[in-house]
Amino acid sequence: MTEHLFRRTGHELVDRQFGSTAAAYVASAVHAAGADLDRIALRAQEARPQHAFDLGAGGGHAGYAMAPHARNVTACDISPRMLEAISAEANRRGLNNIAPQAAAAEALPFPDGSFDFLACRFSAHHWRQVQTGLREARRVLAPGAPAMFIDVVAPAAPAADTHLQAVELLRDGSHVRDYSAAQWLAMLENAGFSVDRLTTGRLRMDFADWTARMRTPPALAAAIRALQNAASDEVAAHFEIEPDGSFTIDTLLVEAF
Ligand SMILES: C[S@@+](CC[C@H](N)C(=O)[O-])C[C@H]1O[C@@H](n2cnc3c(N)ncnc32)[C@H](O)[C@@H]1O
Repeated sequence: MTEHLFRRTGHELVDRQFGSTAAAYVASAVHAAGADLDRIALRAQEARPQHAFDLGAGGGHAGYAMAPHARNVTACDISPRMLEAISAEANRRGLNNIAPQAAAAEALPFPDGSFDFLACRFSAHHWRQVQTGLREARRVLAPGAPAMFIDVVAPAAPAADTHLQAVELLRDGSHVRDYSAAQWLAMLENAGFSVDRLTTGRLRMDFADWTARMRTPPALAAAIRALQNAASDEVAAHFEIEPDGSFTIDTLLVEAF
C-alpha cells in the first residue's frame, strides 16, 4: 500500500480525480456561470482572437465563453476524459471551433507565441509546478496578447489559509495549493507577465455539490465537517461556514499580458 502511494505521480492523481468526474464539471453550476466567464467573453469579443487557449480547461466553460468570438479555441487539459466531455458538450452547443489537446501545463506542446488570447480558470491550484506552468503559459502566448487567470485565492490570515488548504486536500487528494493574491502577482511577474487588473470575488460552495463533484469518500467529508465545527470564530466567519458545511471562498481574476 505504502509502496503504491509512493509510485503514484501527481499527474496520475489529477487524471484519476478529474477523469472519473468529467461530466460533473461540465454540469457544475459553480463552473458553468459567473461574472468571470462574462468578463472572459467580453474581453474575447473585444480582442477577436485567431487562436484562443483554454489552459486547464476542465468542463470547458472558459472555452465556450471564448469560442463565439475566436476563430478557433484550443482546450488543453491533462485529463483525456475531460477533453472527451468537452468535445461532446461543444458538439451539443453547436460550437465547432474547439480543438482538444491533452497536455500538462508544465510542458505545453506548442511553439512560442502560438496563441493570441489565454484563459486559465480554476486550474492552477492543481498544478504540480505552478511557476513552470505559468512560464509555459507566457511562452505560448504572443507578446502583448491578453491573459486571464481565475482561481480560488488563499486568505492572507495564516489560520484561514491553513483551514482552506486542509479542507481542499480532504475533499480532493490531488489538491496542491490555493495561493494568496500576493503570491499570484509574484508568480505571474516571475513568469514574465505584466499585470493589468486584479478583481477579487466571493463564491459560495454548496457542501453536498462540492463533495459529490469530487466523489469525496464519506469519511473524508466527515473529517471536513469536523474541521469546520472546530474552526475558530474568525475562520468560521471568514468562510461564512453554514450549518450544512456550505461555505464561501475568495476568488481572484487577474488580467495580464
Ligand atoms: C476545476 S477544473 C477547471 C475548470 C474549468 N477551467 C472551467 O472553466 O470550468 C481543473 C482542471 O485542471 C486540470 N489540471 C490539473 N492539473 C493540470 C495540469 N498540470 N495541466 C493541465 N491541466 C491540469 C484538471 O484535469 C481539471 O480538468
